[in-house]
Amino acid sequence: MSHAPSPEWRGVADGPHTVNTLAERLQGCFRYSMNGKAPPLGDPVLVSLEAYAYWLAKGAPVGVPIPGRGYPKLPPPTLKADYTRGSQVYAQHCALCHGTDGQGQSSNGKSVFPPLWGPQSFNWGAGMHELQNAAGFIKANMPLGLGGTLSNQEAWDVALFMDSHERPQDPRFTGSVESTRARYHNSPNSLYGQVVNGHVLGSP
Ligand code: HEC
Repeated sequence: MSHAPSPEWRGVADGPHTVNTLAERLQGCFRYSMNGKAPPLGDPVLVSLEAYAYWLAKGAPVGVPIPGRGYPKLPPPTLKADYTRGSQVYAQHCALCHGTDGQGQSSNGKSVFPPLWGPQSFNWGAGMHELQNAAGFIKANMPLGLGGTLSNQEAWDVALFMDSHERPQDPRFTGSVESTRARYHNSPNSLYGQVVNGHVLGSP
């Protein structure tokens, strides 16, 4: 088990921290990134995913970043990220696949190009809703097959545009956007609870 992905130290600003096991981390992918319901601990689906991760990690060096893992963080943008510029990047480089309305495309009920906002997208608890994560991911991977072709500024601008749209509620919602922001999203990289185009993001 020495090659297991390391457990994570996680917590909230005003509460206790705990060590997340791999299984708990995987549950988070269901809950936030997929906006779904996580299988319970010990469920065959989770156990299979854990086994797959251990298998993938077999023989890999420990404590060394492996090529292809994750994506590089971008330096802060030169100009403050901008919604209008982001909408232009989106129209030119993203709408073809993800749709002008951001709802992606599906075929026979299966998502081909994922929605980037709206009821079927990742939710406000997903890492992708944070600008630095979205900008880094987009720069490295999007447009699909053309990773690395956007400028850093374009990646930040389009990340801001994408994350300025409404999406499913954070499953940890406390009943108020303000307190949910204070507890989970108290960061300049999160637009949750901020006003964009006259709308408070995350408000039900
Ligand atoms: C040629 C089609 C295509 C274009 C153009 C494209 N994407 Fe994608 N995008 C995809 C596909 C397919 C996936 C799913 C990839 C996967 O699951 O491995 C994806 C995934 C994503 C995701 C992850 C969504 C999630 O729920 O995890 C984001 C964010 C994203 N794209 C943003 C963008 C942005 C921003 C642009 C424009 C700069 C863009 N994409 C351009 C095809 C495209």
